[in-house]
Amino acid sequence: MSNVVVVGAQWGDEGKGRIVDWLAERADIVARYNGGHNAGHTLVVDGKTYKLALLPSGVVRGKLGLIGNGVAVDPEALLAEIGRMQALGVEVTPQTLRVAETATLVLPIHRAIDAAQEGLRAKPIGTTLRGIGPAYEDKVGRRGLRVCDLGEPELLADKLEQLLRHHNAWFRGLGLEPFALEPMLQGLLALAPRILPFAGPVWHLLDRAHADGRRTVFEGSQAVMLDVDWGSYPFVTSSTTIAAGAATGTGVSPARIGRVLGVSKVYATRVGEGPFPTEQAGGLGELLRERGREFGVNTGRPRRCGWLDAALLRQGVKVAGIDALALTKIDVLDGFEAIDVCVGYELDGQRLDHAPASLAAQRRAVPVYRRFAGWEQPTQGVRSLDRLPAQALALVRGIEEIVGVPVDIVTTGPERDDTIVIRDPFGHPFAG
Ligand code: IMP
Repeated sequence: MSNVVVVGAQWGDEGKGRIVDWLAERADIVARYNGGHNAGHTLVVDGKTYKLALLPSGVVRGKLGLIGNGVAVDPEALLAEIGRMQALGVEVTPQTLRVAETATLVLPIHRAIDAAQEGLRAKPIGTTLRGIGPAYEDKVGRRGLRVCDLGEPELLADKLEQLLRHHNAWFRGLGLEPFALEPMLQGLLALAPRILPFAGPVWHLLDRAHADGRRTVFEGSQAVMLDVDWGSYPFVTSSTTIAAGAATGTGVSPARIGRVLGVSKVYATRVGEGPFPTEQAGGLGELLRERGREFGVNTGRPRRCGWLDAALLRQGVKVAGIDALALTKIDVLDGFEAIDVCVGYELDGQRLDHAPASLAAQRRAVPVYRRFAGWEQPTQGVRSLDRLPAQALALVRGIEEIVGVPVDIVTTGPERDDTIVIRDPFGHPFAG
């Protein structure tokens, strides 16, 4: 087995970046398959913090980074991020980064649409306002611009004109300023020579890499509960976040996906609006936010915090094809007297083992909790299972039992090596 897909198993911000970073050291390639610069992946390496949004996490380790066709690429944001990485001493070149020629472009107009759509909504979604949703709308609406179009000025002008014809009718209808073709076209043509050297057939590179026995980590962005099909629609992102997205979003065969690792915190957070049955709005939520430093990487927004919803996690494991879990931030719970974990719901007098489909029913559903004992001895920095306090180990085993898949990895602090490896997700005995 040569590949691993890393999927967020909650609402994002589970600490996927550092898990991918840990796996990247044991792999050759890191490939992004969904989302765009709405994602925020934080890595701490040798005390240095790297905040990534669009670049695959492996670039920090000098691994080949791939941005698949399923990613929404904002060319300005990509170049700015490459610049930020270079300022931190990380070289990003066409030898270390390839971007799918068929990836959808995110344009300035998409940011304007994102903001205007949020303004029109009676209940805003709380998007990141990066224009990701509108860019995907244009993709499925078959009027999107793609990376390869940057190399064809005439085609680019035609496609842009079509795109503006479509969107400007809407802008005018709302009494908003329409977008002019020429400045947008010139802006894209100016970016093109800096983007095109990175463009290539990512699917083909992956196919050759597989034939050569090279290992790939597929880095999912956002998470199962933000998936456009499986999340709490419409409070979701606009892409396929689950493992199946790795196939559609890079061109790798589903049969070659390998092990699917779901990343979940031992508690829960959510950014933006939408149902969150185990949310703790009071002091407990604040304590988790403060101890877990739960503020958005890119937007700085405070995250909503609550207990782990293992019933939703179990559901996510099934639909996302998750084989095993990485449990993160167990150290945040150090010193808690008791820890609650949601195992199901009570809805209209009935017991459910999964979340109801309708949003109204989700809001009525009352979580049923199983209580675990807390621990006093700190877990921060613990790197082997036998050094975990017995109660922390009981929580890990309890989550395995409730969710029905094994825990491969537990993280105990912000450093990449604050990691307990129970089983190497690449399927090989862990060599240390
Ligand atoms: P969008 O992806 O910007 O359209 O936002 C849609 C929803 O997904 C909002 O609730 C965002 O807060 C959420 N979201 C998008 N990206 C992330 C992420 O990387 N982490 C956590 N939440 C995210």
